[in-house]
Formats: sequence, C-alpha cells, structure tokens
Amino acid sequence: MALAFGMDIGGSGIKAAPVDLATGDCTVERVKVDTPQPSTPKAVAKAVAELFHYFGEEATQGAIGVTMPCIVQAGVTLSAANIDQKWTNYPAAEILSEAIGRPITLLNDADAAGMAELYYGAAMNTPGLIIVTTLGTGIGSAMIYNGVLVPNSELGHLEIDGFDAEKRAAASVRTKEDLSWPVYVKRLQRYYETLELLFSPDLFVVGGGISRNSEKFIPHLNLRTRIVPAGLRNSAGIVGAARHAHHLQNQG
Ligand code: BGC
Repeated sequence: MALAFGMDIGGSGIKAAPVDLATGDCTVERVKVDTPQPSTPKAVAKAVAELFHYFGEEATQGAIGVTMPCIVQAGVTLSAANIDQKWTNYPAAEILSEAIGRPITLLNDADAAGMAELYYGAAMNTPGLIIVTTLGTGIGSAMIYNGVLVPNSELGHLEIDGFDAEKRAAASVRTKEDLSWPVYVKRLQRYYETLELLFSPDLFVVGGGISRNSEKFIPHLNLRTRIVPAGLRNSAGIVGAARHAHHLQNQG
C-alpha cells in the first residue's frame, strides 16, 4: 500500500493523518490539535513537529504534504489570511521541514482540497476547467484545467460590488452576520455568477464545512455551470496534500 502523510494547518486547528493513496482514505483516524495563538511561525512549527512525531515512523514513511491558508510559491508563504502576519514572505517550507526533520511539500490549503476532489472526490474523471471553492472562514479556490492545477488562484479575493468576495460570501460571514439562507444564497449567487462570467468553468465543486448543508443553497443557485458539493469533507486538505507531495516526489 502506497502511503503519504498529510497535514492541514488552519487558523484554528492543525489536522494530520497518513493517507492510503490508492483510495484517498486516512489509514488511521486523523488527529486535530488547536493552532497555537498567536499562530506565529515558531509556535506553529513546534505544534507541527509534536503532531508529526505522535504518528510514529511507520505512519509517516511516505512523502509529506502540508497545507497553509496562504499563497505558497517555491516553499515561501507570500500572504497570511486568518493566520499570524509573520507568515507573510516567510520561508515556511524550510522552517517546517527543519522542525520535523524531513523534507515536506507545502501548498495552499484550497489547492490541496482541489487535488483531493480531482483524484478521489467530486471532480474525478472530469475534463476541462474545474473550480473548487472552499467556503469556510475565508473563501479558498483551486483551478484545475484538464487535470493540471493552476496554483494560488485566490479567487476568494476577487473584488465584487466593491467588496473583497470572501468578506461577503464566506461561510463564517453567514454565521457572524446571522444571515438567513435566502439572503446568504443571494450572496453566493453573485459570487458564483461572477466566477462563471470570468472563467466559464465546466464544473464548480463547493467544499468547506458548509458543503454538509449543500441542499440549503446549491439547488437555489441559478447558473449554467454544473455545481456539486465536495466529495471529501474535513480530510480534503490532508488527502490532497499527501497526494500532491507523493506525486511531486515520484515524478523525478
Ligand atoms: C486565503 C487563501 C486560502 C483561503 C482558505 C483566503 O483568505 O487568501 O490563501 O486558501 O482563505 O483558507
């Protein structure tokens, strides 16, 4: 069984598990710890190392993929949304590798979720342009064209009607502003119709915790593009990071 290890670093929690790459399943139950507050690189690196070593050698033998809610280019985090600002322009891959004592592949959290959907979830065997959006604290996005990821698309930060899109349509905004579903659906409609106009995708996949309630909004959206809930739930970041890291390590 080919194994790889995935870790998903978020603003409030850090989740990890070994992943069976044939099925995309976690081979043991994933473990979640709180993200240290403030979530400085030093504090997070320490928590990451502890969590990693908790799993032991056998579970962590394969490639290691780690996600962060940041733009990630060549191992450097260029932005820091919903996490400590010290991560901006920070050599994150190097520091996290040093902390755990093994090389890692670092990628954006939504890009990882997109890879998980492509290989094991709602976007399997789908050619053309797929846009995976994660609706959570912010809005993350993954753009995949004919199986190839275009990294760091950051479509949650499109400016729509004068607003940063995620400040209007992220799942956290619905709770914070106590919006009814019909009001929130209007915001999602505006968001997805803008994406549709700009990119004409073949498929939208909606991830994030809210995909559990997809019947509350997906049937009410009026789009020409097919839109479906994510196939993977809380483990999408872990699974996609593990798959991506394994792929990069084995392509030479
Ligand atoms: C960040 C993205 C991230 C998304 C989901 C956004 O605010 O800019 O990098 O993927 O939140 O965490």
